[in-house]
Amino acid sequence: MLFGATGSIGSSVLEELREHRQHFDLVGIAARSSLDKLAEISREFSVKTVAVNSDVRINLAKFCPKCRIFRGEQAMAEAVSTSDFDILLMAASGLAGIRATMNAILLKKKIIIASHEIIVTAGKFLCPLAQKNQVRLLPMDSEHNAIFQCLKGEDRKSVKQIWLTASGGPLVDCDADALDQVTPAQALRHPTWSMGRKITIDSATLANKGLEVIEARWLFDLKPSQIKITVHRQSLVHSLVEFIDGSIIAQISEKSMRFPLKNCLFYPHRQPSNLKTVSFDEVINLSFQPPDEKKFRCLTLAKASLEAGGIMPTVFNAANDLAVGLFLENKIKFTQIPTIIERTMHEIENFEPESVKEIFDLDFEARRVAKVFI
Ligand SMILES: NC(=O)c1ccc[n+]([C@@H]2O[C@H](COP(=O)([O-])OP(=O)(O)OC[C@H]3O[C@@H](n4cnc5c(N)ncnc54)[C@H](OP(=O)(O)O)[C@@H]3O)[C@@H](O)[C@H]2O)c1
Repeated sequence: MLFGATGSIGSSVLEELREHRQHFDLVGIAARSSLDKLAEISREFSVKTVAVNSDVRINLAKFCPKCRIFRGEQAMAEAVSTSDFDILLMAASGLAGIRATMNAILLKKKIIIASHEIIVTAGKFLCPLAQKNQVRLLPMDSEHNAIFQCLKGEDRKSVKQIWLTASGGPLVDCDADALDQVTPAQALRHPTWSMGRKITIDSATLANKGLEVIEARWLFDLKPSQIKITVHRQSLVHSLVEFIDGSIIAQISEKSMRFPLKNCLFYPHRQPSNLKTVSFDEVINLSFQPPDEKKFRCLTLAKASLEAGGIMPTVFNAANDLAVGLFLENKIKFTQIPTIIERTMHEIENFEPESVKEIFDLDFEARRVAKVFI
């Protein structure tokens, strides 16, 4: 099943599936409201289940006649509970996929996670549940997949720290004074990756790296102090693990989500690939430098939310999501994004959430509070 099938990650996955029709059948897809795209995919892959996370009326004739269609907020969760499938690839943005992921864990399915927000907000519930059910959450994000590969066969106790690499985003060389004037079009011009609009803006503010830090804490059971960031402009080294004996292991591949995707889909095996690989027959210069947190305050705020724990990562995520949406609509300046997040984090009192429902409530509340600071 592929949830978030109509997005940027979804397209990469579909490309991969076209290449490996002999290995995989796409049985279910989900999205928020892109009905035409869903219909096209369902016809091409003859899917059996379609979940649409809205109450839009659906013209059944558009979809394959034998499709089961689920609609509304619980659509993805219901589709998971009632379908016959082996792998769930969760690439729906936002929190919408939390319950579907939980259901897939309880059914002990193979789960590939691309969506940051799910682990950032509900990692406290999902990761222990996965461990209890002996389900491995396979990280598809290039950085986390790199760490996952570097840790293979290693004793976790021998990990000193990890280094998540960051391309630096489209504004890495922009003067701090000029950030005020940055337009959505400039911030969307990513130097090395082609991604969805929201994550590209997150890449420009470094909020994306902050979300990845929070995600890594849960996926790899690390202390916040064990997660470091290095800006690596070439985006060839996708992350590194430093061990207590001083050795550092890195994962290197060309800039394509198809590498981590292949790794997850075929895990624990490796599949031959026709993708262009990094060639050391040519001169390659690799650079690494610390991020400028004074200029890109979203990273500092994300790390502060992780240190604070409790609901703060959810508050950070919600305020950031709201602010990015407003920036993309030209309603706020680029530099207002961290200000809105910071004020929202100050305004909301922290506590330890006891249920996923509280996470959803908090997401709603943080967005309401964040709007006050526009
Ligand atoms: N793009 C990357 O390279 C990349 C890398 C690492 C991690 N990620 C993470 O992967 C996720 C997807 O990223 P993306 O770049 O593919 O985003 P995207 O292009 O904006 O696509 C988002 C996908 O999620 C679906 N969706 C959004 N809200 C939904 C909801 N409430 N219920 C069900 N489906 C919903 C969208 O459906 P509609 O088309 O109907 O709106 C679309 O299929 C994000 O969490 C992102 O942080 C992306």
